[in-house]
Amino acid sequence: MKSFYFFTLALLLLITGNAHADRQLAIRNGCMSCHADTDLDGPSWPELAAKYEKYQSQVNAATIQGEKLRQGKLFKNIKAHKKLSPTSATELMQWIIDGAN
Ligand code: HEC
Repeated sequence: MKSFYFFTLALLLLITGNAHADRQLAIRNGCMSCHADTDLDGPSWPELAAKYEKYQSQVNAATIQGEKLRQGKLFKNIKAHKKLSPTSATELMQWIIDGAN
């Protein structure tokens, strides 16, 4: 049921062309306690934007990278990454790929 909800939401966002994420989404999801424009615990937004810039021309990159973020890496499980919904993860990755402004 939950996945149906996300699917519908994703579809709606696609249809309305409103899938624009911004800083607000990062703030709402608690990303700012570890990521900022300068180094905190996590890499800074400009650093991440530079790293993910290469995906700008890749179709579905935000979805793929968002899923990677949610799954986490071996020995590096960050709760804030894992608890993201697929939709939020995609939107946030798109925001980062677009330069994290
Ligand atoms: C508890 C601290 C913490 C929070 C909160 C947090 N992060 Fe992270 N994040 C990190 C650390 C530490 C790393 C670097 C370690 C790593 O690469 O796994 C990281 C890495 C990343 C990366 C790069 C992953 C890679 O390997 O390329 C992205 C993208 C990212 N965070 C996005 C986010 C977003 C979006 C949020 C908000 C939902 C968020 N983070 C919240 C600590 C955090």
